[in-house]
Amino acid sequence: MSDETKKTGKINVRDISLRKGGKKLVMVTAYDHSTAVAAEAAGSDLILVGDSGGMVVMGLDSTRGVTVEDMLFMCKAVSRSACNTFTICDMPFLSYQVSEEKALVNAGRLINEGGADAVKLEGGNHFKKTVQKITSAGIPVAGHLGLMPQTTPFWRGYGSVGKKETEIEGLIHDALELQDAGIFLLVLENVASETADYVTSSLKIPTIGIGSGLQCDGQVLVTHDMLGLYDRFSPRFAKRYRNLLHEMTAGITEYAEEVRNGKFPQEEYTTHVSKDVKERLSNRSGRMVK
Ligand code: KIV
Repeated sequence: MSDETKKTGKINVRDISLRKGGKKLVMVTAYDHSTAVAAEAAGSDLILVGDSGGMVVMGLDSTRGVTVEDMLFMCKAVSRSACNTFTICDMPFLSYQVSEEKALVNAGRLINEGGADAVKLEGGNHFKKTVQKITSAGIPVAGHLGLMPQTTPFWRGYGSVGKKETEIEGLIHDALELQDAGIFLLVLENVASETADYVTSSLKIPTIGIGSGLQCDGQVLVTHDMLGLYDRFSPRFAKRYRNLLHEMTAGITEYAEEVRNGKFPQEEYTTHVSKDVKERLSNRSGRMVK
């Protein structure tokens, strides 16, 4: 742990780099105050404000429709609520592909306005110059390879990546190029376990796996998948630790029944006026005020 970490409680890029091959890094996604508070209280090393929020929070069909404004809304809530946890914010689709200059402007907004500590973008070798542009401005960038939800499903579906020799070659090439461009961390999504192991051991920077086996330097899951808060779809690799949607529905059903039966609000949730005021209200309204 660096001196700064001891002072602020928040890890930094150097601390994250030092975890390569050591104690596993824990990352979860968060999109709002409650998920951020829970992630920090649970001791997550890193929080990802993922563009998955477009699906699990905003109800979109894919992450493609997410805008920089949407990410800013979610990122501001998270960075205010988990101020001691290193927060990475996803750059949404088309916020970094148009030009390197636009990518830097958008990354800067996520840092300055959103309060993120780093940004993440999907893609390989093609984005080397973009990564260089952003990191040269002093903004830490995380990479994301394997299944890249902004684009991969439209070309080859949601299946796992890195089973064929040619795919493995492509992955390792992209990973090394991104490392060379200056990324400090690489997310590997739905990559065959042996391939993720090979990529992890070929890099100096830590890898964070999601559906990519045990050998990555850390793991990430989408909070809404792991806590059962999203009903539309759950990837095979997303272990479900709780069923909170079930719990939420049960709570709201109980409340609805109590409202319909005239039970809620009970005495302890009610405020009363004095006897005098009650009498005056009854006189004024011409009926007994209860
Ligand atoms: O948007 C997201 O939640 C992600 C994770 C799947 C890594 O990028």
